[in-house]
Amino acid sequence: MSMREVFEKNPDRRYIMFGGKGGLGKTTFSAAAAYWLAKQGYKVLVFSVDPQASLSDIFKRDIFGKGAVEIMQNLYAQEIDADQRIHEYQEEIRQKIRDMYGMEEIPEEIENYIQAAAAEPAMEESAIFDEVVDIVVGGKYDYYIYDLVPLGHALYYLSMASVYDQWIDKITALRTEMEEYAQVAAVMQRDKESEEDQILKELQYIKTRINTSSGILTDKQKTAFFFVVTPEEMIILDTKKAAGLFAKFDVPLSGYIVNRVIPEELRGGNIPEYLRNRMEMQKKYLAEIDQVFGGEVLARIPEFERDITGLPMIERMAEVMFGGVQ
Ligand SMILES: Nc1ncnc2c1ncn2[C@@H]1O[C@H](COP(=O)(O)OP(=O)(O)O)[C@@H](O)[C@H]1O
Ligand SMILES: [Mg+2]
Repeated sequence: MSMREVFEKNPDRRYIMFGGKGGLGKTTFSAAAAYWLAKQGYKVLVFSVDPQASLSDIFKRDIFGKGAVEIMQNLYAQEIDADQRIHEYQEEIRQKIRDMYGMEEIPEEIENYIQAAAAEPAMEESAIFDEVVDIVVGGKYDYYIYDLVPLGHALYYLSMASVYDQWIDKITALRTEMEEYAQVAAVMQRDKESEEDQILKELQYIKTRINTSSGILTDKQKTAFFFVVTPEEMIILDTKKAAGLFAKFDVPLSGYIVNRVIPEELRGGNIPEYLRNRMEMQKKYLAEIDQVFGGEVLARIPEFERDITGLPMIERMAEVMFGGVQ
C-alpha cells in the first residue's frame, strides 16, 4: 500500500494525524498531506495543537491565534492560542459570579483564585482540547489534519479524553443521585432545582462534545493515524513502544512513513566516507524497519537538501509522499 492508496481506499477517513517524536517530520507531513488533499479539491483544515506550533514557520505566514487562515484555495491552517481561550474562560467565570451573586466587582480573594487556576498546566491542555472539540464539532471541512505534539503529549492528550469522560460520568451520576435525594426529601426549592438541572444539562453537553472528539480519535472508519519514523536505532525502539501504547488506547494505526532517507542515487558517485557511513547505517535500520513494521510501511521520504518551508517545498514533499500532485 502507498499513502495515496490509503486515502483513495478509505474516503471516510477524514481525520488525519501524524504521530512520532519531536523533529521527525509531523508538521511537515501534516502540511504536505493538507496541500495534496486541497489540490484534489477537498476543503482541508490543518491545525496545530502544539503550544510550540510551527505551522506559521512552514507556511511562512503568521497565523497564530488568528483562527482558520486561508493559505490557498481549499487549504486552511490554524494555530490554537491557548492563552486567549483561558482568558475567555476566566471572563466567563467572572460573569457567572457577577450574575449569580449580583456583584459589580469580583472580590479580591476570588480573583486571586481565578488567576491561580489559570496558571495550572492542565488548564492549557484543557483549553487546547476544548478548542479542538470546537473545530471538529464545527464540521466545516472535508478533512481535518491534526498537527500533533510529540508522542508523550499526544498520548496524554488521548488519555485525557477518557479521563474527562470518566470524570464527567461520575459527576453526572452524583448530580442525578443528589437530585433524587433532594426530591425525596423535598428540601429543594423551586429555583434551586432548576439551577441543578442547568448544571446537569451543561455537564451532559460537555460529555457529548468530548465523546464526539475522542470517539473520532479511536474510530478506524473516520481516522487515519500515521507514525513517522527515521532509520535510527533509538527512534525505532521508541516507535515500537509507542505503537504498543497506542494500541492500548485503541487508536487505530494506518501505517508508517519513513523520513529522512539519504537518496540511494548518491551512492554511485564519489561520496565522502562520512556520508557513506551514514548510508550504511541507514541501510541497516531500513532493513530493520521493514522487518518490524513490514507491510505497514507506506512511504520512504528522502532527506531534502534543505528544510521544508513555503508552498513550493511543501509541493515537492507532497509529490514524494503521494506520487504526483495534479
Ligand atoms: N525529508 C526532509 N528533508 C529535509 N528536511 C526535513 C525533512 N523532513 C523534515 N524536515 C525538517 O526537519 C525539521 C523538523 O520537522 P517537523 O516537521 O517540524 O518535525 P515535528 O513536527 O515532528 O517536530 C523541519 O525544519 C523540517 O523542515
Ligand atoms: Mg511539529
